[in-house]
Amino acid sequence: MCGIIGYIGKKTNIQKTLIDSLKTLEYRGYDSAGLAYVTDKVNIIKSKGKISHLEEKIDKEQEGMLGIAHTRWATHGEANDINSHPHKVGSVTIVHNGIIENYMELKKLLEKEGYEFKSETDTEVACAVLDYLKNKKLWNNLEIIKEFSTYVKGSFALGIIFDDELDTLYATRCDSPLILGLGKDETLIASDIAAVIKFTKEYILLDNNDIVKLTQDKIEIYNKKLEPICKEKQTVNWNIEQAEKGGYEHFMLKEIHEEEDVLHNTINEYVDTMETFLQKMPDFAKYKKIHIVACGSAMHAGLIGKYLFENYSDIETTVEIASEYRYKKVFYNHNDTLVVLISQSGETADTIACLRKAKENGIDTLAIVNVVSSTIAREADKVLYIRAGVEIAVATTKAYLLQVAMLMLVNLKMMAEKSKIDDVELKEILKAFKASPKVVKQILDQEDKYLEIAKMIHKDEDIFFIGRGIDYAISMEGSLKLKEISYIHSEAYQAGELKHGTISLIEDHTKVISVMTDEDLYLKTISNIKEVKARGADVILLTTPSLDSDYEFADRKIVLPEANKYLVPMLSIIPLQLIAYQVAKLRGCDIDKPRNLAKSVTVE
Ligand code: F6R
Repeated sequence: MCGIIGYIGKKTNIQKTLIDSLKTLEYRGYDSAGLAYVTDKVNIIKSKGKISHLEEKIDKEQEGMLGIAHTRWATHGEANDINSHPHKVGSVTIVHNGIIENYMELKKLLEKEGYEFKSETDTEVACAVLDYLKNKKLWNNLEIIKEFSTYVKGSFALGIIFDDELDTLYATRCDSPLILGLGKDETLIASDIAAVIKFTKEYILLDNNDIVKLTQDKIEIYNKKLEPICKEKQTVNWNIEQAEKGGYEHFMLKEIHEEEDVLHNTINEYVDTMETFLQKMPDFAKYKKIHIVACGSAMHAGLIGKYLFENYSDIETTVEIASEYRYKKVFYNHNDTLVVLISQSGETADTIACLRKAKENGIDTLAIVNVVSSTIAREADKVLYIRAGVEIAVATTKAYLLQVAMLMLVNLKMMAEKSKIDDVELKEILKAFKASPKVVKQILDQEDKYLEIAKMIHKDEDIFFIGRGIDYAISMEGSLKLKEISYIHSEAYQAGELKHGTISLIEDHTKVISVMTDEDLYLKTISNIKEVKARGADVILLTTPSLDSDYEFADRKIVLPEANKYLVPMLSIIPLQLIAYQVAKLRGCDIDKPRNLAKSVTVE
């Protein structure tokens, strides 16, 4: 979603400073960009498309020590120069991330006051509200920002420059992320840490309704009553190299290859001896029902969690898409229900809303999150961090893998609590977990195989993934990965469901990727694979050594390395991630920044 950066400091080539920071926000997904910098006035440059287009318009030596910049992911109005941020109305210039929900109402009101609007955006209306309040001449700029929040409904993170205070950068937020980067002789505001890591490792997390006033030598933070407040300084625990490609052609490939290390880091943190593992995991004994809520790939990880919790721990589990759950009637049972939120970014608007819904209903919440101190991590009752490090590619890979790993660990704890596993077995699985990074490496090393399959399918326009039980959950994620980065239409189906309609789409050489790892269901899956084969499909089979055989229906086959059965669902995704990557590459797609997508979906 939109990315914000603001800078005040001693660097003199302000346009270049802003552009360099914007580039670090590119991964969030955007369709236009712009910046405003202060000389003796506010100067604005904007451009539809890539930041490189904006860069062509700038003068890299431009003097100036204060500016704001923005990457826009269009919500209100198409991607064009006019709708791009910054917006200036009267004497106020802003960049905005979020959505002003009552902007139509406010627009009408402001039009009556004589305001005319150039763009279709809610942001220009927000800017006009600030200018309108300014013209009342009742308040200073801090008070105007405080007043602003009583007019608008929705979410916002704002960087603001007032014409009558050109040496000052203001910022505020409500339900959209914003941090303060604390450099030497320079301060930044930004949507996320990636944008400031080149400048500093120290930052402050801003809370809802905080207002920040920054000048060259002073940082002032106020709460919503405009009382000055002090906030704790935090330090980023990753470095700039982690936010760079490190020799890989794409972040996605780099991040898939990091799966070995991040799995190792995560397991190391939670699994030492069996006893310490059981201590580190939260207590689940009182829960009889679990609601897993998440979006996209995180929801697909949740589907694996559901399978594990129900099949191994006998706990009734539902998995719901957050944008649905937040508005549906939920029948909570207070004493025995746990809501589990899964989110890489910890900033997904719909997932945050579900977390708050559960909390408002007095339900216990557990978050499985990657980004430390993100909104979900801060607000949930309990947090289990996956240690994926920074994930830049829009399509999640390593974070998804760790979400699944974490759900597996949670399930082991539940099984232990319910005596569904004995110590010997638990120790064996934990040992297998510790050894699993080596298995990941073996899977990664089969690159030729994935490329061969990618070559077979990259010209197709419709691909099907089929599987049963947990293999269906894996198919869902494999299918999403492929479609989002290669733009091939792909669908995942429960293998047994095809003949209720979808099988009519299967014809000669339709590619069907069949995931068959579930030992209880594989014979059923084989029957379904044969059904598509009989209708002309070319079948690519993903299976395990124990289920492998000389199957005549498999046109291509990927056999996972030997591994503990319990870990197979986590390992199965890696070949599918790599096939998706290779297909997208063969099709010449913008792999790390697929069209229309954003890394962190901070609007509903
Ligand atoms: C797909 C993908 C998305 C995210 C989803 C949730 O590759 O990355 O589907 O999984 O937007 O994001 P988080 O996990 O940040 O809540």
